[in-house]
Amino acid sequence: MHMFSQYHATEKLKKLAQHPIDLTQPGSLTPERIQKFSSAACGFKFLYATERVTEHVMQSLTDLARESNALNQMKQMQDGEVVNFIHNFPSENRPALHTATRDFFENQNPSEKAKEAAHLCLNEINKLKAFMKTIESENRFTDLIMIGIGGSDLGPRAHFIALQHLKKPNVNIHFISNIDPDETALVLRSVNLKKTLVVIVSKTGTTLETLTNEAIVRNRLEQEKLDPAKHIVTISMPGSPLDNPEKYLERFYIWDWIGGRFSTTAMVGGVLLSFALGFDVYWEFLRGANCMDKATLNMDVKQNLPLLGALIGIWNRNFLHYPTLAIIPYSQALTRYPAHIQQLDMESHGKRIDIYGNTVNYETGPVIWGEPGTNAQHSFFQLLHQGTDVVPVEFIGFTESQTGEDFKFEGTTSQEKLLANLFAQNLALALGQKNDNPNKVFPGNRPSHILLAKQLTPFTLGCLLSYFEHKIAFQGFIWNINSFDQEGVQLGKVTANKIIARLANKSSEPYPLGDALLANLEF
Ligand code: F6P
Repeated sequence: MHMFSQYHATEKLKKLAQHPIDLTQPGSLTPERIQKFSSAACGFKFLYATERVTEHVMQSLTDLARESNALNQMKQMQDGEVVNFIHNFPSENRPALHTATRDFFENQNPSEKAKEAAHLCLNEINKLKAFMKTIESENRFTDLIMIGIGGSDLGPRAHFIALQHLKKPNVNIHFISNIDPDETALVLRSVNLKKTLVVIVSKTGTTLETLTNEAIVRNRLEQEKLDPAKHIVTISMPGSPLDNPEKYLERFYIWDWIGGRFSTTAMVGGVLLSFALGFDVYWEFLRGANCMDKATLNMDVKQNLPLLGALIGIWNRNFLHYPTLAIIPYSQALTRYPAHIQQLDMESHGKRIDIYGNTVNYETGPVIWGEPGTNAQHSFFQLLHQGTDVVPVEFIGFTESQTGEDFKFEGTTSQEKLLANLFAQNLALALGQKNDNPNKVFPGNRPSHILLAKQLTPFTLGCLLSYFEHKIAFQGFIWNINSFDQEGVQLGKVTANKIIARLANKSSEPYPLGDALLANLEF
């Protein structure tokens, strides 16, 4: 049973995709079209006239959302129903209730499961507030080292960098994620451990990289005659190996119903953001995420930005068959944002079976990649304009700078120039250019859309995170795949452990292939 292939809308969209609108034709991309194909929510505008969609396509995409029950599935997710499962096979089999980590504002979800989860999350927030108060009053720490990897690193780090302009002047933040000893060594060289708070983030409390780096830092603390139990806090699931009151100064919790890559708004991001930027900043960030969570339940598809983004993504992926998607923020503060969205999307949608365990006969998640503009223009935009592959682009932009510091040069400010470049790329990709010289021909019809807000603030950053989280969830609901597990990372982990056991002489089990590779360590 391949539900996605069997929807009526899928058939319709397949036909429409045979002759998508030609944006390069005079009269195709008009000011009226730009006005018409735009939408707004939570202070964001979504401009998609430069996608290869028409009213017909949008109607069929809306039908697809309806046929797949996408909105209802979203509601079930936010209500705390089990959405992380594979029918009739062992699976994680649990809710994906990351929305509960920020459901503290208007229109709280009335479902019992969601309320209970939000209550647990609020307890952690209160614990965090008390903890911050104590360490601030004692003025104990000037530095913070975050140790974690994957969802326990990318989200918190990308969001901290995005709001770095609000960093308290007297604190310094460091990250250790890789098991590469050089990363750890360089961070340890740069801190005074006496004044350092170490935050170990691992949902499971079992991740090789994180436990190894914890051991290194713990060892260094001990060498410096410092008590690790006075310097290290943890964020993990209750009962995990990191949930040990004797070893740690404080233990913050997340639960199995918050996926690692969906945990930024939980304590995983909360401790770092509160320490570095202040609790109020973190709270505003939650408020923004919550705003988009609620907007995600809007039944009017055209006003529901995550659903709109999901549907356009599906049009580009399944009907126009583009294999990748570039996320290009025109904001230096979002420099690590594409990396976070890359994990969020690719770990969720790097899947080839549906929720019934059947191999799908349609494309699922695209390859996600990106860098901030305008830098990207001077790097890989050549391929975006003239390469043999078409790469849809999701642009993100802001009308005002974050710091308010700007400079008028030759009649325009830098922020204006930044935005002008964003709009220029959006138009140039769509319109292309004719020329007698083949080397100067731009084929055009390269789809992109823009997410635009006034300023990158804690609130808008929260909205943006929720936008991507829900865009991805909607796509999974429509494709009928489980967006919330990550079985595909296991084989590599198990294989690495076998090789590590050989290296440690702990494994008597022969592993000839591993040994053959290890023989190459001799130089
Ligand atoms: O290897 C992938 C992964 O399981 C991610 O899903 C997760 O975000 C990361 O490892 C870290 O896991 P943990 O938070 O349990 O250390």
